[in-house]
Amino acid sequence: MLRGMKRVLLCVGGGISAYKACEVARLLVKQGAQVRCALTAAAQRFVAPLTFQALSGRPVATDLWDTSQDLAAGHIALADWAELVVVAPATADLLARLRAGLADDVVTATLIAIEPSRWLLAPAMNEKMWASPAVAENVQVLRSRGARFLGPAVGEMAERSHAGPGRMVEAAEIAAAVATWPAPAVAETSPAAQFSTSPAAQPAPAPHDAAPGPRPRDLEDVLVLVTAGPTREALDPVRFLSNPSTGRMGFAVAAAARDRGARVTLIAGPTELAPPAGIQIVRIVSAEDLAQAVDAHVSAARVLVMTAAVADQRPKVRAAQKAKKQDGEETLTLVRTQDILASVSARAVRPLLVGFAAETENVEANAREKLMRKRLDFIVANDVSAAGAGFASETNRVLVLDPAGGRVELSGSKRTVADGLWDQIAPKLS
Ligand code: CTP
Repeated sequence: MLRGMKRVLLCVGGGISAYKACEVARLLVKQGAQVRCALTAAAQRFVAPLTFQALSGRPVATDLWDTSQDLAAGHIALADWAELVVVAPATADLLARLRAGLADDVVTATLIAIEPSRWLLAPAMNEKMWASPAVAENVQVLRSRGARFLGPAVGEMAERSHAGPGRMVEAAEIAAAVATWPAPAVAETSPAAQFSTSPAAQPAPAPHDAAPGPRPRDLEDVLVLVTAGPTREALDPVRFLSNPSTGRMGFAVAAAARDRGARVTLIAGPTELAPPAGIQIVRIVSAEDLAQAVDAHVSAARVLVMTAAVADQRPKVRAAQKAKKQDGEETLTLVRTQDILASVSARAVRPLLVGFAAETENVEANAREKLMRKRLDFIVANDVSAAGAGFASETNRVLVLDPAGGRVELSGSKRTVADGLWDQIAPKLS
């Protein structure tokens, strides 16, 4: 039985997940709501108005200009009638039109007459569209006006080779949110939480993911790209060159950014760590994979934090079959990998860049030299030979350096160090 809103207007946008909106209509009716539906022109290319008419038992609004439709005083009567509006799917185009305040079809003309605090939006689009700065900004503006977002969920896209945040949440989740409206089940989803499926589906928090207490929301909707962990450079199908990085520092940096409101993509080399909840994770193996993944994601990012321990060299030849041992000395020829940070730094348009310098001697001087040579905004210098710091340690002790001569020491758990690092970075983004 519906505890929450009784008169629900279901607005359907033009996306492949419009078919799931049929199920939303069915479930809302089943739980006792009066449902009316409005479809954009694009939505009608995916699903027939007749389907919604049959499911809701009421006429469907499809055309602002059709006087034969049961819109009495038109879209304003529909707006007055609705206690709550569900927009599913909320496509990139529809979000932009709602943000702009357009009123050129029955959906936008109705919604503009309803206060945004009564809108529940279920976004659905390809993950690259969701990651675009334009969509991020539209979401931020609509949220600041009081609109609530449910999802998107993470998963396979309609284009089956694509996966990531962008799928519309399931119809049952939307129906449940309406039933509990305006209870906390639908409490303002942070941009990071929008990346998650359902809370129950998330793995238990790992140490890097531990709740640190209240943090400032100073990265709200900022697109952050973090790299973490080692790379592996194959010699043959069963051997590789690598390093002892566990990825813990990078995972902590990603989780700390998420908890301040950022939309985080984490590119991770081979590590046993569970992916932090609410973060888009991209798995890579080699330095070349990492370079490609960074290239694919960096143009959308405001900040790139490179904690990854990238191999500087890889074997010149990768044997197709397992190499057999030989008598006597053997020689391995190595070639340089691409310096990923330096190449991003050379771009005309680049995000704020944060490097990590793993050093065993002359820590500060070597790190400052890298900061200047790679033209970074910050470098985090790490004495990997010290006890309680560096690879595989639960704790860390670092120096954060900037080109203006700034120098801040941070120590504690990797999560504490990550929070301290964002305290330095966040003010540079405003
Ligand atoms: N880095 C990178 N691409 C590489 C190597 C390193 O982007 N091929 C990044 C690392 O992720 C790190 C920073 O550059 O953020 C510094 O890495 P480090 O290996 O300490 O520096 P190098 O420039 O490789 O210097 P070194 O000669 O000490 O190895």
